[in-house]
Amino acid sequence: MALFIAFEGGEGSGKSTQAKALYRRFLNADIPVILTHEPGGTALGEEVRCWLKGEEEMKISAWAELLLFAACRSQLVAEVLRPNLATGVMVICDRYADSTIAYQGYGRGIDLDTIQTINGVATQGLVPDVVILVDVPVEIGLARRKTAKLDRFEKEGVSFHHRVRQGYLQLAAAAPQRWLVVDALLSEAEIEQAVWEKVAQLLE
Ligand code: TMP
Repeated sequence: MALFIAFEGGEGSGKSTQAKALYRRFLNADIPVILTHEPGGTALGEEVRCWLKGEEEMKISAWAELLLFAACRSQLVAEVLRPNLATGVMVICDRYADSTIAYQGYGRGIDLDTIQTINGVATQGLVPDVVILVDVPVEIGLARRKTAKLDRFEKEGVSFHHRVRQGYLQLAAAAPQRWLVVDALLSEAEIEQAVWEKVAQLLE
């Protein structure tokens, strides 16, 4: 059975590095796999990603933001995730529906029931087999961002990012069998190993 693995985390957590490392592990083991990301991963998603990250400096309300993330997700599920899983290809996704709960729900304050409903429409019930949360203390994560130009989310205040982190930790605590929380302050190799052990269990 093909696994659907999502990576989540706050700014500067190193989750993208870890998603790539897991992708390489699958390739080295000759296991068919794709690595994709949100927002993005489709032509529509990449276009909307530029808007959401603030590269075009346009106004986006909290509700519009929520719906744009949902639109990207809906396209990714239909165009990439489901077709690959259906043909036995492992899917690694750098961010997925739990990002919306953490950022638009806990971060922006949109009520969680509404977000669950919209996530349900966008995913059509496609839930990851495991979610890897690379958990980083907010100040350390933000300090790791090296780019001179911050995106719309990186520009948010520290309290926004604290709410996002708490949101993630609550989601993980509510479903510990489906979530693996790894400490972003461990070495890259240690995190990679912890992730691989969890995935190997699921492969068995
Ligand atoms: P990243 O791919 O570089 O992590 O950037 C994506 C940004 O978008 C990141 O700040 C988190 C944010 N985001 C949301 O706010 N909600 C979502 O549903 C997703 C997928 C991302």
